[in-house]
Amino acid sequence: MILVTGGAGFIGANFVLDWLRTNDEPVVNLDALTYAGNLENLAALQGDRRHIFVQGDICDRALIDRLFAEHRPRAIVHFAAESHVDRSIHGPAAFVRTNVEGTFTLLEAARAYWSALDGAEQAAFRFLHVSTDEVYGSLGPNDPPFAETKAYEPNSPYSASKAASDHLVRAWHHTYGLPVLTTNCSNNYGPYQFPEKLIPLMIANALAGKALPVYGDGRNVRDWLYVGDHCAAIREVLARGRLGETYNVGGWNEKPNLEIVHTVCALLDELRPDPAGPHARLITYVADRPGHDRRYAIDAHKIERELGWRPAETFETGIRKTIAWYLANQDWVADVQSGAYREWVARNYGDRPA
Ligand SMILES: NC(=O)c1ccc[n+]([C@@H]2O[C@H](COP(=O)([O-])OP(=O)(O)OC[C@H]3O[C@@H](n4cnc5c(N)ncnc54)[C@H](O)[C@@H]3O)[C@@H](O)[C@H]2O)c1
Repeated sequence: MILVTGGAGFIGANFVLDWLRTNDEPVVNLDALTYAGNLENLAALQGDRRHIFVQGDICDRALIDRLFAEHRPRAIVHFAAESHVDRSIHGPAAFVRTNVEGTFTLLEAARAYWSALDGAEQAAFRFLHVSTDEVYGSLGPNDPPFAETKAYEPNSPYSASKAASDHLVRAWHHTYGLPVLTTNCSNNYGPYQFPEKLIPLMIANALAGKALPVYGDGRNVRDWLYVGDHCAAIREVLARGRLGETYNVGGWNEKPNLEIVHTVCALLDELRPDPAGPHARLITYVADRPGHDRRYAIDAHKIERELGWRPAETFETGIRKTIAWYLANQDWVADVQSGAYREWVARNYGDRPA
């Protein structure tokens, strides 16, 4: 079996659902259920014995030791993190704690477990660390996209904490020989993304007739990847990635934020027209985020060359699927916005026999 951390969050939940759709290997899913963790994302797995959910903190060494001893995973796929840049500006401490100290705790627990494995199990063990392209800093308009060799220049508390965790992972390989793999991915979008992030926020606000807040001049450029493609890339790296290597994962799809918002508006005009007028009328410019990186772009040649991975979705197909999902899952959005998702465990499991 594999141990997944953060599997009740956006990408982790998509990964667990895809994993169990395509394969029978069980998953132990360790998640603290912070505001970003939502067990409703995993409702389709209720009663599925291949999925074992454990509510707990990646900083809790005793718990992680117990999970390793009890379940003897062949790999750990580490998603758990504080992930929202704006929150990191207002409260960086939680980012240092979870992203740095939490990754350190997992590495130390994994090292103790891995060191005691026998030869074949030890050789097969993997620690896959899921990271971000934000560690590389900001690009000028004509700079080449980020390759794996790009120096780290993190600019926000979020990206600095992820960069620190990447360095720890690298060091545990070089110093102790721990069999690690790291992926650095661009902006994801798709089902189950918490509506504080750009695309789900714009969909939710547009449907509610609320302002669509765009930072600064809206010209900050990001590379966008459909979440299912990111999950497929992680599966490939886990199966065949070279130990100690990092792999950049991206969608070959650089777009300014304003273009993303206009695309969302145009699709909503088509799929859910608003009698009051085109959704783009709601676009409102707001003060920029402090230290807002101007441009990220990913050179994803290495993962394609070595592992044959390329995104299956274009932005046009992925964004259409995403908007269709949000339109079909308005209850999920309402539960997140009202906070009702936090009572989901009690509602769903409270009166069930153990
Ligand atoms: N969202 C993106 O566009 C993106 C892009 C590249 C990389 N990443 C990375 O992918 C990973 C997942 O991102 P996401 O967008 O799904 O994040 P998310 O915020 O949606 O989910 C994070 C999950 O981690 C859990 N968690 C937080 N602190 C924890 C702790 N101390 N112990 C255990 N669980 C804890 C939360 O409850 C939540 O379920 C992160 O490591 C992030 O840095 C995200």
